[in-house]
Amino acid sequence: MSEITVRRMDFDFPEGIDPVFMNGDHARSFSAIGLSLLLPYLEPYLIRTMKIAKKQIDDPDLIDDLERFSAQEGQHYRMHIKFNKALQRQGFPKLEELEEDLADDYLRFSNTKSLRFNLAYAEGFEALTTAAALFSFHHERLGDPDSPVADLFAWHTVEEFEHRTVAFDVYDSVCGGYFYRLFAGLYAQFHFLRFVNRVTRYMLEVRPAGPATPDQKRERRAAAWRGLRYALPLVVRTYLPWYTPHRIEFTDEMRRVAAKYTEMAISTS
Ligand SMILES: [Fe+2]
Ligand SMILES: [Fe+2]
Repeated sequence: MSEITVRRMDFDFPEGIDPVFMNGDHARSFSAIGLSLLLPYLEPYLIRTMKIAKKQIDDPDLIDDLERFSAQEGQHYRMHIKFNKALQRQGFPKLEELEEDLADDYLRFSNTKSLRFNLAYAEGFEALTTAAALFSFHHERLGDPDSPVADLFAWHTVEEFEHRTVAFDVYDSVCGGYFYRLFAGLYAQFHFLRFVNRVTRYMLEVRPAGPATPDQKRERRAAAWRGLRYALPLVVRTYLPWYTPHRIEFTDEMRRVAAKYTEMAISTS
């Protein structure tokens, strides 16, 4: 039986969410917004890619996983659209322009790039979200959010972990090749992180953070250290020739979080 549960969620976001929604931390809040603005373009592109790849797969279990992957991604970007609409965006007119450029990129990739490129792009994204999920749940304590916005990110992250093997297996089954996956995957990471970075920098220009308090400085130094100590090795591991997401096990903490969202879902399949 598949480990992937498709949960239909219905988070209720308050209207007019302040863009600085993470403990007064401008940069972290804006990069989370960058990520949330990215997903309604990136995830439909993954779904389009999987739909084409499906025609070339015979293994019924992999087809089942692929369909669950696409159903999860479909739920993710719909909930991110809902969150993005609830955000207070007055004063940030350039965001729309950045989004239009991104939309063009993903349509161009679907229309002009090879299936191999698009699948390697997908795995570049998925490998990073798998590493990010492990890091977030175990070193950033993402597990017990207290708001619908934090729930959105925790639910999404745990489902990214649930479907961690799918893009890897589909790439392997349809085309395969380590070096191509590595370089196209690195390009993918550069491409979508550049968008997140542009959004963050632009929003910081419009709404700069004031001088950091000693506590904030300490917390930032600790976060940078955690990133170096724990996140970096998790990411580097995904670049190695023997990397496979199949060897990464579900942890008890993630099972607990996954069960929580299964319970909160309006339906599951
Ligand atoms: Fe997703
Ligand atoms: Fe994903």
